Amino acid sequence: MTSSVLLPLEPTLTMSDVDVIRVTGGVKLAGEVRVVGAKNSALKLMAAALLAPGTSVIDNIPRITDMGIMGEVLRRLGAGVQFAGDRVTVEVPDRLHPEADYDLVRRLRASICVLGPLLARCGSVRVAHPGGDAIGSRGLDMHVAGLEKMGAEVSGEHGFVVASAPDGLHGAKIALDFPSVGATENLVMAAVLARGTTVIDNVAREPEIVDLCQMLNQMGALIEGAGTSEIVVHGVDALNPVTHTTIGDRIVAGTWAFGAAMTRGDVTVTGVEPRWLEIALDKIANAGGDVDHGVDSFRVRMFDRPRAVDIRTLPFPGFATDLLPMAIGLAAVADGQSLITENIFDGRFMFAEELKRLGADIHIEGHHAMVRGREHLSYAEVTASDIRAGAGLVIAGLCGDGVTTVRAVHHIDRGYPNFVGDLRSLGVEVFRAEVPADPEYGF
Ligand code: EPU
Repeated sequence: MTSSVLLPLEPTLTMSDVDVIRVTGGVKLAGEVRVVGAKNSALKLMAAALLAPGTSVIDNIPRITDMGIMGEVLRRLGAGVQFAGDRVTVEVPDRLHPEADYDLVRRLRASICVLGPLLARCGSVRVAHPGGDAIGSRGLDMHVAGLEKMGAEVSGEHGFVVASAPDGLHGAKIALDFPSVGATENLVMAAVLARGTTVIDNVAREPEIVDLCQMLNQMGALIEGAGTSEIVVHGVDALNPVTHTTIGDRIVAGTWAFGAAMTRGDVTVTGVEPRWLEIALDKIANAGGDVDHGVDSFRVRMFDRPRAVDIRTLPFPGFATDLLPMAIGLAAVADGQSLITENIFDGRFMFAEELKRLGADIHIEGHHAMVRGREHLSYAEVTASDIRAGAGLVIAGLCGDGVTTVRAVHHIDRGYPNFVGDLRSLGVEVFRAEVPADPEYGF
């Protein structure tokens, strides 16, 4: 037996790769859970703060590893960054150091979102190319093509994206090949200080894009159309720092919604507008769940075994790719056969191989997964490969017939504040252990 050390419930900022979460299956999730600010908003709001010298404050931020890394990215650019509870204060100097190193960018792909603000503020920028990751290849071509249309010269040098616009950026007409979240954000943040008007067509419509544009408009930017597929940005000379509150995390909320459905539980989620995950909640209803919508809350109840439903991921307002592991998890315990299709990232199905270790019956072909549901899953040791896969494996473990151990749970720390504490408050017997990095134990 390994010796285990119980860790406190507070979210941690550790990067240990030998932390494990153990959950006992056969429980129904029941109770209320509050979600805090969305990771994928808060990270970009921090980058947006770079656009205005002075002190910006962002509230309702999640206490997760990725926010700590983003804080470090901004510090190396010359900003002062202080975290206190669910607030981050970013002090932006008149002159920034426009270079983001590989050692941080490789740990947080989202740091590429400093590209647009730095180019707009400094006229030149070097940001390490983030490369691919466990969920897929993750290109940057649309970011680059859009910045070039706005007058930037962009090259790739020794693993860095190098961009310059010595005479400043100018307005342009840009059409994205695909509604990329990151490209939309970078191009909007570059355009707010450009000369003239930029029209970006086929943009991402995610709620996090709307949140970013609202903060930028509060700062003095002139952006129209956020939340639709065409954004128009009228450039201004300068922006002012602001205080802004991050929107709730629809992916964390969706994780609990699927957890309730898979375990035939009863969970109320607060802190998020249900319209941000409407299709996900519709799928749960189609699977037999009872879903009540509030203004900034919802309740999911599942009384019987869920029915099989087909799910395909798509850009917002479609079913979020970040909930794919939960969709496969639901299919794995549903009555019948489900076809789950992933349309955004080519590597997401790595998760399915781990889920098979819990007894799931999954057949993958290309970007489709054919899942034959089983009444119960089994228990096993499994390994998280990314944030959502980690959370999905823990939730799937709740449907097992024993204790499931999920390894590499530092991935979960990147996106879910207080994951273990929330599980406990929903009635789960769970603990987090630090297992010594000893080959005897297989790590
Ligand atoms: N793509 C390109 N070229 C580009 C940009 C994107 O080919 O220039 C491709 C990507 O390779 C990918 C697809 O387009 O296949 C979608 O990429 P997108 O740019 O929309 O995603 P992202 O900005 O890299 C964000 C979230 C992801 C979320 C996706 C899709 C952040 C920090 N990340 O990534 O969240 O899955 O949008 O909604 O906002 C997560 O939170 O776990 C996570 C992975």
